[in-house]
Amino acid sequence: MAKNDFYLLYRGLLLPNIAHTEDSLKFLESFQMRDDDVIVITYPKSGTTWMQEIIPLLLNGGDFTPVLTIPNWDRMPWLEESRAAGLIDKLSAPRTFVSHMPYYLMPSSLFSSKAKGHVFFFHFEVIYVSRNPKDVMVSSFHFHHMAGFLHDPGTFEEFADQFLAGNVIFGKWTDHVKSWRNTDLGDRILYITYEEMIQQDLHGALERMLVFLGKSLSKDALRRITEHCQFKSMKQNNMSNYSLVPETVMDTTKSMFLRKGIAGDWKNYFSPELEAKFNKTISEELNGTDITFLWDEE
Ligand code: A3P
Repeated sequence: MAKNDFYLLYRGLLLPNIAHTEDSLKFLESFQMRDDDVIVITYPKSGTTWMQEIIPLLLNGGDFTPVLTIPNWDRMPWLEESRAAGLIDKLSAPRTFVSHMPYYLMPSSLFSSKAKGHVFFFHFEVIYVSRNPKDVMVSSFHFHHMAGFLHDPGTFEEFADQFLAGNVIFGKWTDHVKSWRNTDLGDRILYITYEEMIQQDLHGALERMLVFLGKSLSKDALRRITEHCQFKSMKQNNMSNYSLVPETVMDTTKSMFLRKGIAGDWKNYFSPELEAKFNKTISEELNGTDITFLWDEE
């Protein structure tokens, strides 16, 4: 496993040293899925923290105690990060995790349901959240400025080249999205986009997730969760806004973690030339797939 000051290289992917180690990746590889686990998958900057707020609330009937008392990284840990091993026995059922890993690097127990012919008995659920890659890139650019554990991104144009080439943490956006399509997970995976949560209606998106998770909530509980998970109120939650992290790790004088929370911020950053180059690269890489998104119509 190659290393530099910021990253280690794991199966071709750059991962931040701060949270990923050989041991944490071994933990991921041998992780045993349980049939009531819920895993949210995101490419970084696509709404992970948002889902770490939403999912516990949907699953626990709208009890706000965990989201107001446990930091998001312990409440719904990353499977591949070093904190996961120490937390695993403390999580109550249903266990909830997030992961930035592409499909093919998930633990073998995620695939074993099919291999063992147990497909009808395995019910763990996966939610894949995607976001317009242009907004992902803008968010990531700011994140690289404020996160002391990521390299200096250079100019926006320079960062765009790194992003499109996949020389960024967790590799190419298109590889990630493609890897999570046409999986063997059948109806155990739900695809949702950041944009439908933000532009359309969060309440409706939460209802879809609830149905998928096989849960129900009173109208009032769902309304309170929806309000709590709005950008403005989540920004105030110290258990989710990364204000507990030391400035050397995340310097909020440079950028907030919960920065803008909007769709379409890319329009403030992309030149027409960069937009054309970006669109061309992404559409070439998605060519031949059936992947289309809400934002393609913009
Ligand atoms: P911006 O930098 O565009 O504001 P992740 O958690 O995957 O790292 O993603 C972070 C992005 O999700 C940030 O985007 C952050 O502001 C946004 N985000 C987090 N919570 C949100 C919410 N409740 N509503 C809208 N956006 C949210």
